[in-house]
Amino acid sequence: MIQIVGANAAHAGVLAALHSRCFEKPWNKKAFTDLLNVPGMIALIVQKNDTPAGFILAQSVDGEAEIITIGVSPEFQRMGFASGLINAILEASPELTKLFIEVDESNENARSFYTQVGFFPNGRRKNYYHHDDGTKSDALMMVLAPPARA
Ligand SMILES: CC(C)(COP(=O)(O)OP(=O)(O)OC[C@H]1O[C@@H](n2cnc3c(N)ncnc32)[C@H](O)[C@@H]1OP(=O)(O)O)[C@@H](O)C(=O)NCCC(=O)NCCS
Repeated sequence: MIQIVGANAAHAGVLAALHSRCFEKPWNKKAFTDLLNVPGMIALIVQKNDTPAGFILAQSVDGEAEIITIGVSPEFQRMGFASGLINAILEASPELTKLFIEVDESNENARSFYTQVGFFPNGRRKNYYHHDDGTKSDALMMVLAPPARA
């Protein structure tokens, strides 16, 4: 059974564990505890048969929200979970007219995902990401404006 549940301070450890499965540079439990305290933060976890599979944190300000982080554990990818999390945010927050994301241009999987979900490129921050191997890559700003709301 697939369930999307709201995350609160009690989920900080679960969020950190999920994040470490999805990203090279994991955020720890304290980082998630702090993020969950930020005003306007929306945090959701998707579970399959009660096993946490993915998460999204987005900060909502004045009817627009920025995705702070989103990830789905590798074993649960390509099952529609991340798309489901985006839809869940939009459904839970009818006041949102725009959803923003800043994605590493070199993260082709994520760019394909956002494009597929309906995000459009909206700007670029040059050399924003510094990688461990010394290379840099641009941040691509992308925006989703649900047509019925824009
Ligand atoms: C990006 C990410 C969140 C996508 O999660 P997901 O649950 O697998 O995404 P979905 O199953 O909802 O994908 C929906 C569509 O997006 C596209 N897509 C998703 N992952 C893709 C990939 N790796 N390569 C190409 N297209 C992809 C596909 O069109 C997919 O539909 P399909 O599976 O029917 O072809 C996941 O790959 C992830 O956690 N990556 C590591 C962390 C990360 O990069 N997060 C984003 C940082 S900005």
